[in-house]
Amino acid sequence: MEIKKIAVIGAGLMGSGIAQVAAQSGHEVNLMDVEQRFVDRGIGIIEKNLGRMVEKGKILTADADAIRGRIKTFLSPAETAAGVDVVIEAVIEKMDLKKQVWQDLDAAAKPATIFATNTSGLSITEIAAATSRPEKFVGMHFFNPVPVMKLVEVIRGMETADETVAIIKDLSAKLGKTAIEVKEAPGFVVNRILVPMINEAIFVLQEGLATAEEIDQGCKLGLNHPIGPLALADLVGLDTTLLVQEHFYEEFGDPKYRPAPLLKQMVRAGRLGRKSGKGFYDYT
Ligand code: 3HC
Repeated sequence: MEIKKIAVIGAGLMGSGIAQVAAQSGHEVNLMDVEQRFVDRGIGIIEKNLGRMVEKGKILTADADAIRGRIKTFLSPAETAAGVDVVIEAVIEKMDLKKQVWQDLDAAAKPATIFATNTSGLSITEIAAATSRPEKFVGMHFFNPVPVMKLVEVIRGMETADETVAIIKDLSAKLGKTAIEVKEAPGFVVNRILVPMINEAIFVLQEGLATAEEIDQGCKLGLNHPIGPLALADLVGLDTTLLVQEHFYEEFGDPKYRPAPLLKQMVRAGRLGRKSGKGFYDYT
């Protein structure tokens, strides 16, 4: 099955990155969000990234224009999903919302369209069950920043067909990513390891064992991580980090996954990291 046209649902950090790499690899992209200002923000991120690539001489202005020209924007699922080969959903990590979004997409997309969710760790099987085509439904988990990070986790739900997995692995390669196939479990593989590490770093900060800068420097210099766990939380978004950690806590029923109170407090204060201008560091 040749994938020509891709719908991306959600124009946030992940959705805009996915739309960018899809357009960069020659696909027509329908990008959707629920409000014009969210769509505009996503397009702004893409244009900034393309501008940076032109400045660095990686692509020509004409290439950037062609990539941008392949992305159309929408505000309704029905128009976005009509006629596309694959839908990739990257809306906020709330199960009820995802189910609602997928029901609308299911009604709008042609029967052959493959459905992929970029959930960070929710059950693929459960989201798929909200549609009439669980065999065509799969997890396609990208990493932030999407244009830079080379990994995609491809996750099977209970009913996912082998063909669906093969199509999405193939698409991942076309987007310039390396796919690993993962069985379904909360957080899959990478976030299962990463998010509890970030949560632990927040406990360390909360206990006053070291400053944010020192904790991050420790992990950078002591573990050779490109950035420290607190700076990474700011990059991922503290709201997303908390949702994933809460999901582990609920799903495994194990107190070792309890979210750090400081993480909850920061999210309640609206300190969400880079996207809100302030997290463990100040970006204003
Ligand atoms: N969008 C596009 N490109 C970006 C970017 C962004 N947001 N941020 C950086 N880049 C590009 C730069 O343009 C630069 O490109 P070049 O090599 O072609 O010049 C390159 O990335 C390196 O950037 P910088 O030199 O500005 O900065 P760094 O060397 O510090 O790299 C980083 C930035 C790549 C983000 C690096 O800090 C890093 O690898 N951090 C860790 C990221 C990570 O672990 N992500 C996974 C998060 S977990 C996740 O996403 C799962 C989710 O479900 C929670």
